[in-house]
Amino acid sequence: MSELLDKRPFDFERQSSFPFMGDVVEVGRRYSVGVVGSTGAVGSLVVKLLCERNFPVGELRLFASPNSAGKWVETPYGQCQIEALALRKPPILEVVFMAAGAAVAKRWGWRFAHRGALVIDKSSYFRMKNYAPLVVPEVNGERGLRHQGIISNPNCTTIPLVMALAPLHKLFDLELITVTSFQSVSGAGKKGIAALATELTDYEAEPSTFSQRIAYNIIPWIGGRRGRHSGEEMKIIQETRRILELPRLPIQATAVRVPTLVGHGLAVHAEFRRKVDISKAFAAWEAFPGVKVVDDPSEGLYPTPAVAQGRDEVFVGRLRCDRGRHGLGFFVVADNLRKGAATNALQIAEYTLANSP
Ligand SMILES: NC(=O)c1ccc[n+]([C@@H]2O[C@H](COP(=O)([O-])OP(=O)(O)OC[C@H]3O[C@@H](n4cnc5c(N)ncnc54)[C@H](OP(=O)(O)O)[C@@H]3O)[C@@H](O)[C@H]2O)c1
Repeated sequence: MSELLDKRPFDFERQSSFPFMGDVVEVGRRYSVGVVGSTGAVGSLVVKLLCERNFPVGELRLFASPNSAGKWVETPYGQCQIEALALRKPPILEVVFMAAGAAVAKRWGWRFAHRGALVIDKSSYFRMKNYAPLVVPEVNGERGLRHQGIISNPNCTTIPLVMALAPLHKLFDLELITVTSFQSVSGAGKKGIAALATELTDYEAEPSTFSQRIAYNIIPWIGGRRGRHSGEEMKIIQETRRILELPRLPIQATAVRVPTLVGHGLAVHAEFRRKVDISKAFAAWEAFPGVKVVDDPSEGLYPTPAVAQGRDEVFVGRLRCDRGRHGLGFFVVADNLRKGAATNALQIAEYTLANSP
């Protein structure tokens, strides 16, 4: 498809973005799609995945901050010009992926939705709002079908956590969890990646994106401050409870930034009301869509960021009984830009569009 598209003549003068599939191959319904934050770590991947996943795109509009407006970017569909969100009324689009932070989501989310778009937002802004379902399709995809125009995408750490916990909860009935995250620098977007790249070679560089130097270091604090908890820890706690529909589940969380590029890891200790059985836990993971077991320590095989990078699955392993007969310890890893962000957003759109009346 992209080969075909690249050969099509494109009138740079007349169009700031372009409909490109309408007259190529007409297979069922196609949608006008917008990507807000399209120059960022997540947004640029959304654009790539639209093509990779063969999303039924009929027209594509790319948005970013005024700093990027007017620039031309290469996409799998050909060149596209970045637009700023400047008008009071945004363009009428059918599906809008937002990955530009909470302030942009607050300002523009409903404006797109009120003009008919299904908005899938990656920021934290809508995550705890009752009117916006918080969705991981494999876990609670049907929740998204009751949307009022906006569906929220959970935090990049919460997504792999609930993917690993959901099948175990069904079997053994969750009672409490303790989780420590190991989060890569790309979780802080393109400036996080740039900070690590600079600091790895410049030993004198002052910390820029993170509170301390991240190169050759780990930082046990991510995000804003909520009392003695970091913002990231509260997101893990609140979002996990909301998605699993366990509002009083005791969760202890420690979020740690580590100097890896892509892939967030989680060391999880979970206790259950029913007696656990390792082989049943493995079988439940194997049967759960989107979860892949990597667990052969004798061969040096366990889930690592390197295993997860560039993949859409959530990898689980290091499974062992912990805290007696009702506890399990395990390790989870996912690509924070893919399943932790862009892939999950596209899956939400695919599931919702396919299952809406
Ligand atoms: N990175 C992750 O692993 C991850 C995972 C889950 C969720 N998220 C969330 O996804 C969102 C984007 O994160 P990111 O990591 O992709 O950040 P990023 O790399 O810093 O990209 C931010 C994007 O937002 C755009 N933007 C900034 N101000 C804007 C404005 N006023 N109007 C329109 N666009 C604007 C930027 O455009 P310019 O390039 O022009 O500045 C850029 O395209 C955030 O809410 C983040 O919390 C990120």
